[in-house]
Amino acid sequence: MLLVIVIVAYTVPKLTDYSAAAVQKAAGEVLSALGDEAAEIESESEWKAFRDRWMARKNGILTQINDVWLKAAPKEAKREVGQQTNLLKTQVEQKVEGAKAWLRAPVFEVEHSGIEVLAADLEHYRLEKLQGVDITLPGVRRPIGAEHPVMRTWREIVSVFQKLGYSVAEGPVVETDYYNFEALNFPPNHPARDTQDTLFIAGQQSKPQRERLLLRTHTSPVQIRTMEKMRPPLRIVIPGTVHRNDPPDASHSPMFHQIEGLAVDTNITFGDLKGTLDHAMKALFGSSVKTHFRPSFFPFTEPSAELYVTCFICGGSGRRGAEPCRPCKQTGWIEVLGCGMVDPNVFEFVKDNGYDPRKVSGFAFGMGVDRLALLKYGVDDIQLFFQGDVRFLQQFG
Ligand code: PHE
Repeated sequence: MLLVIVIVAYTVPKLTDYSAAAVQKAAGEVLSALGDEAAEIESESEWKAFRDRWMARKNGILTQINDVWLKAAPKEAKREVGQQTNLLKTQVEQKVEGAKAWLRAPVFEVEHSGIEVLAADLEHYRLEKLQGVDITLPGVRRPIGAEHPVMRTWREIVSVFQKLGYSVAEGPVVETDYYNFEALNFPPNHPARDTQDTLFIAGQQSKPQRERLLLRTHTSPVQIRTMEKMRPPLRIVIPGTVHRNDPPDASHSPMFHQIEGLAVDTNITFGDLKGTLDHAMKALFGSSVKTHFRPSFFPFTEPSAELYVTCFICGGSGRRGAEPCRPCKQTGWIEVLGCGMVDPNVFEFVKDNGYDPRKVSGFAFGMGVDRLALLKYGVDDIQLFFQGDVRFLQQFG
C-alpha cells in the first residue's frame, strides 16, 4: 500500500480567542511550521522562496500575522499579541539567516549519528580538501631568526660582569634633569645639558630645571637611582637605551646602547678598577688584548680615564698588510669606554642611604654597546644595525 503524505502549507489563521494561552498556542504553530519548512530547503532558490514567503513585506507571513492578529486584536490583548509578534519576527529572521548559513556549509553524507560520525565526517572533509595537494613536495621551511649583533654584544658584556658577581639594574629612558645631570655633579650650565646634545621633552619651561624630562643621554642616572634603593656594598651593571641629538652618520645614531658599571664598597681603589676592566676586556676580546688608561674628565668621576685596548683588527700594529688599519686610525689602540672613581660629590646625593663619602669609595664605567659591536663584527656603518635589513641581519645567523 502506498501512503502519500501531503504537507499542507501553513496559512495564518484568524484568531477568535485572544486569551494569552490561545495566542501562545497559535505562535507555537507558527514556529513549528517555520522549522518544518526550513528543514526542507536544499538549494539557494528554495531558500529565497522560503525567505520571501516568511519575510516579504507584501503578504509575507510576518506581515499577515501583523495584519490578521495584531491589528484585529481587541485593546486588552494588544500587549500580549504585540509581544508574541515581535518574538516571532526575531525567530523568523534567525531561521532565515541560519538556513542560508547551513546551505553554505559543506554537505556530508551522514549515515549515523553520534560523535564518531562527526569525526568521520571531518576526516572525509579533510581528505576531499587534500585531493590536489602533492604530499611529495618539500614542506615550508620556517626561517629561524638570529640574535641581533647589538643584543648579542649586550648580553656578552653583561654576562662577563655577572660572572664577577655583578647584578643587573635598569632604569627609565625618559629621565629627569636631576638624575641625568644634577645628581651626577654636572654644573648648572654644563655644555652637555645643551639642547645641542640632549633631547628634551617639549613644553616644560614652567617646571623647575631638575624636574624637566629628557631622554637620558647616558645610563649613569641609574647609578643614583640604584644607590637610593640599595645600600652599599654594591656591584651592578646597567644596560640600556640612550639618546643624543646627533645626526645619524656611519658612527653616530640618535639612539644607541650603553652598559654602565658601578662598584661601591669600603676601600675600593683605582687598582680594582684597572684589574676589573682588564679582565673584562680579555674576556670580551680575547686574552691577548692589552689595556691602557689615559686621563680624561667626567663630572661624576674623579679621577677619570678612558680605556683603550690593543686594536683587535690589526693586533696593535696599526697596519693590515700593506694597508693602514682604519678602525684604530693606525694607532694600534681603540678607545672602548669611559671610567673613573666615583666623585665624592655624587655620594653626597645618596649619603643618607649609607654612602658616606668618607667611609665608602667606588668606581664606575660606561661603554657604548653599538660601537663595540661595530668593532667586534667589523661592521663599518652603525646605521646598518637599525635599518632592519634582513640581508644584513642574516649574516649573523
Ligand atoms: N656616562 C659616560 C658617557 O656617557 C660614561 C661614563 C660612565 C664615564 C661611568 C665614567 C663613568 O660618556
